[in-house]
Amino acid sequence: MSNKTVLITGGMGGIGTDMCRYLHKQGYKVATTYVHDSGREKRWKDTQEQEGYPGIEVFHCDVVNWDACEKLGKAVAEKFGPVECLVNMAGITRDAVFTKMTPQQWQEVIDTNLTSVFNVTKQFIGPMIENGYGRIVNISSVNAAKGQFGQTNYSAAKSGMHGFTKSLAQEVVRKGVTVNTVSPGYISTELVMKIREDVREKIRSSIPVQRFGEASEIARTVAFLIDENAGYITGAEFAVNGGLHMH
Ligand code: CAA
Ligand code: NAP
Repeated sequence: MSNKTVLITGGMGGIGTDMCRYLHKQGYKVATTYVHDSGREKRWKDTQEQEGYPGIEVFHCDVVNWDACEKLGKAVAEKFGPVECLVNMAGITRDAVFTKMTPQQWQEVIDTNLTSVFNVTKQFIGPMIENGYGRIVNISSVNAAKGQFGQTNYSAAKSGMHGFTKSLAQEVVRKGVTVNTVSPGYISTELVMKIREDVREKIRSSIPVQRFGEASEIARTVAFLIDENAGYITGAEFAVNGGLHMH
């Protein structure tokens, strides 16, 4: 059990909801963020409370927006004090073959999946360094290292995340802060379910484990990496992809 605080960006989504619950069960004080459809956070929070996960705090924040991230940093610190663990998970897809990809599809994905990691991490790294303890996990993707037809934007952003991980890990390793990447394969969430069915089925049958992953399988990996006893693991990438890509 842990009594530490964890902030998960994009924690009301498909992978995130499971992660919030799993870490709550492990004793963490859990905070998360959302951006779309104000009002929905109250319903989400009520559901968590009714189903045995009380006290998860939800903050509105567009992770693309620097000022919003600064506000998030202050609001979370006011509520919880310093955050010991950060999971950068907010992300989107805008899939299209490169010849059809618009500048907007490119930019939205780079901003949401990569620049966000800079914007959010900057708000929380200072106290981690001062306190001599921190755990950061960046959620990348199997398609970072593997590449994927239709995802030049996404693969570039998610590969960038791992470069960020390795560089920051070197800068803060002597301050007790670890920085790692988790790269999920195809997990059965809406993000994957919105892939055209014939394409999705082809992908599913190419996965050696012969199924999509479960969100709980990502939550468990993150829990392992943010544990106090995981201090010797830093700058690493953990693949959770059913064997889809081995490297
Ligand atoms: N390799 C080689 N050729 C391929 C291919 C592949 N993987 N996929 C499609 N093609 C070919 C098709 O056979 C087709 O050929 P013809 O023109 O000769 O018939 C051509 O490329 C065009 O393919 P589509 O009909 O699929 O093109 P489209 O414009 O309708 O759709 C697309 C393009 C939106 C990118 C679609 O292919 C697609 O959704 N692909 C899956 C992308 C994907 O895996 N996204 C992951 C989303 S989930 C996620 O991102 C989470 C995560 O991290 C894992
Ligand atoms: P999801 O359900 O769509 O969740 C994405 C989350 O990101 C949502 O909570 C969303 O907030 C948030 N978000 C998007 N844009 C944002 C912005 N500008 N500011 C703040 N938050 C924003 O997707 P998921 O399947 O859970 O995926 C979560 C993460 O895992 C993503 O980074 C994704 O790339 C990665 N991943 C997923 C898979 C998979 O197979 N599902 C595989 C590999 C990697 P709202 O709740 O407000 O919409």
